[in-house]
Amino acid sequence: MCGIVAYIGKKEAYPIIIKGLKRLEYRGYDSAGVALFNEDLRVYKKKGKVNDLVSFVKGKNLEGHVGIGHTRWATHGEPNDINAHPHTSDDGRLTIIHNGIIENYATLKEALIKEGHTFTSDTDTEVLIHLIGTLQDKDNLKLEEAVRIALSQVVGAYAIVILDKDDPTKLVAARKASPLVLGIGQNEFFLASDATPLVGYTSQVVYLNDEEIAVVSNDGTFEIKTFDNEIQTPYVQRLNMNIEKLEKGDYEHFMLKEIYEQPNTIADCMRGRVNAAAGWLKMGGIEVQEERIFNAKRFIMAACGTSWHAALIGEYLFEELARIPVEVEYASELRYRNPIINKDDVVIALSQSGETADTMAALELAKEKGALIYGIVNSVGSSISRITDSGSYIHAGPEIGVASTKAFTGQVTALTLMAIYMGYKRGTIPKSYYHQLLEGLEKIPAKVKEALECDNQIKKLATKFINTNHTLYLGRGYNFPVALEGALKLKEISYIHAEGYPAAEMKHGPIALIDENMPVVVIATNKSAYEKIASNIQEVKARKGIVIAIVTKGDTEISKIADYTIEIPDTEEPFTPLLSVIPLQLLSYHIALARGCNVDQPRNLAKSVTVE
Ligand code: M6R
Repeated sequence: MCGIVAYIGKKEAYPIIIKGLKRLEYRGYDSAGVALFNEDLRVYKKKGKVNDLVSFVKGKNLEGHVGIGHTRWATHGEPNDINAHPHTSDDGRLTIIHNGIIENYATLKEALIKEGHTFTSDTDTEVLIHLIGTLQDKDNLKLEEAVRIALSQVVGAYAIVILDKDDPTKLVAARKASPLVLGIGQNEFFLASDATPLVGYTSQVVYLNDEEIAVVSNDGTFEIKTFDNEIQTPYVQRLNMNIEKLEKGDYEHFMLKEIYEQPNTIADCMRGRVNAAAGWLKMGGIEVQEERIFNAKRFIMAACGTSWHAALIGEYLFEELARIPVEVEYASELRYRNPIINKDDVVIALSQSGETADTMAALELAKEKGALIYGIVNSVGSSISRITDSGSYIHAGPEIGVASTKAFTGQVTALTLMAIYMGYKRGTIPKSYYHQLLEGLEKIPAKVKEALECDNQIKKLATKFINTNHTLYLGRGYNFPVALEGALKLKEISYIHAEGYPAAEMKHGPIALIDENMPVVVIATNKSAYEKIASNIQEVKARKGIVIAIVTKGDTEISKIADYTIEIPDTEEPFTPLLSVIPLQLLSYHIALARGCNVDQPRNLAKSVTVE
C-alpha cells in the first residue's frame, strides 16, 4: 500500500507529483506529503487526502525541478501530520518516501538511539532514513552505496526514493517486494508505485526488479544495479495506457464508471480468444504450457478478497466443465501452513493489482515446490505477472475504485474461457455444448449491458436500506460465490455488516438472525437449484425477513414470494455470475452513496495490499 511518485528533470516537479499522487490515491489516503528542492529543501505533509495537502500548501513555495511525493496507508504510527511521508535524516539532508514495511525497524531503531539519534515520528521509514544517513556519513559514501549497505541490514518490503539536498541532481530508488516503475522521458525521469502517474508524460517504462537500485540524474542518464552491485541492462517497455481510462469522465465515481465499463471490459477479455462463428476458443497462456497444464493432477487457486471469490467460481467452472480437481485457498493461509504442493500441480494466482503481498508470497512458495505458476492478473507488468510461468491478462484497464468490480468479472471471464478451453480439449464438453457455450459467451457483453438497466430500480430500492445494520446474501452453486462477493461489496463501501452464505447453510445458524428487520438478498436464477432456492426464500419469508431476489428475466414464481425482484437476462448456467453480480454491485454502490459514504475510497482500505 502507499503510493509514491518522484520526478527529476527540467519541468516543475510539484504539479507532476500531485497529479501522480491523485492517481495513486487508491493505494492509501491517510496522509500525503511532498519534498521539493530549489535552492533549499522544502517538505510539506498533511494528514488526510491529497486534496488536503493541496489546500495546505496553497501560497507556499512549490518551486523545484526535483521532488518526491507520497500518499499513505498507515502501518506503523497513526495517520497524522508527523507520521506522514516524506521523512528526513536527523540532519535534514536526506528525504525519503517509502511504500512497504521495515520489519526489523525496532532493533535498528534501538541501535540508532544508542548512537544518539532522536526520532520525531512513530514510523519504520524514519528509522531507515536515519540508518542510510549514518552509514553515508561514517564512511563518506555515495548515497547509492549507503542505500545498498543499509538495505542489506533491513528485513521487509520496500519501494523507496531518496532525495539528497546536498546533491539534488539525482534521485536514488530501490525496491524489494513492493512495486516501482521508472518512466524515462526527454532528459527527465519519473518514479512511481505503478505506471498511472506516468501517463501523459512518457510511454517508456522500466519495471524495476526485486533487489535493484536505480540512480536517475537530471542530465538524462540513469543506472540500475542489483543489491550485489551488478550493473543491469534495463528492459525498456512501451506503456499502453491512456488518460481517459484514468479519469472519471461523466461519472460521479470511479466505481460507477467501472461498473458501467463491464460490457466492454468483458468483451476486451474475450477479444482474440473466442470466435463462435469459426468455432474456436484460444488461450495463449495455456498453449505455451499445454503439456504441464493438461497433465496436471490438480489446480490450486490462490487469491485474496474479491479475487478469492472469483477463484471460487473458477472451482465450479473447472470441475464442471473440465472435470479437473480444484482447491481454492486464501493466499494468506496457503503461504503459512506448509501446504502439500507437487510438481504436477498448477497454482493459479488471481489478482487485480498483481501486487498483493500474500498472493505473491504464496506463489513464491508454490514455485519453490516446483508447481507451474499461472497468473490471472489485470495490472500489466505487475510483480505477480512477472513471476508466473504463464498466464492470462484480463484486460480490464486500470481499476481505481477500491471496491473491485470490473476486475472481478474480468477474472471470472478468464476462468470461464480456461474451463471451456480445457474441457473441450479434454473431451469433457461435447461438441454441441461447446458451440452453444461459445455463442453464449459472445452474447455476454450485451447481456451485461441489459443487466445494467436495473440501475434506476436499484437506486430507488437502496433508499429503503440506508439504516440497515445487517444483511444476508444467499446463493447456491455458481451463485454462492456471487453472494459472498455481494456481501463484501456492501460491507466495504457502506460499512453495513453483511454475510454471504450458501443458501442451504442458512438453516444451520444464520436463520436465527432473521426477523422483520433483516434484508436477505437471494440470487435465485432459473437454473439447476431453482426449486431449492425458492424453498429457501419461503423459509426466510416464514420468519418475516425482507427478500430482495435476483431472478431471471420473465420469472413469475419468485416475484410472488419475494418483497422485491430484480431481473437479469437468461444465459447458460456457467455464465450466470457475470450477470448476477451486476445488481449486487449497483446495490452496494447506491446504498453506500445514500449513506453518504466515500464510495471510491472507503475507510481503512487500500486498493493494493502490499503488506501481509
Ligand atoms: O489486487 P488483488 O486482486 O490481489 O486484491 C485482492 C483484494 O485486496 C481485493 O480484491 C479487495 O478485497 C477489494 N477491496 C475488494 O473489492
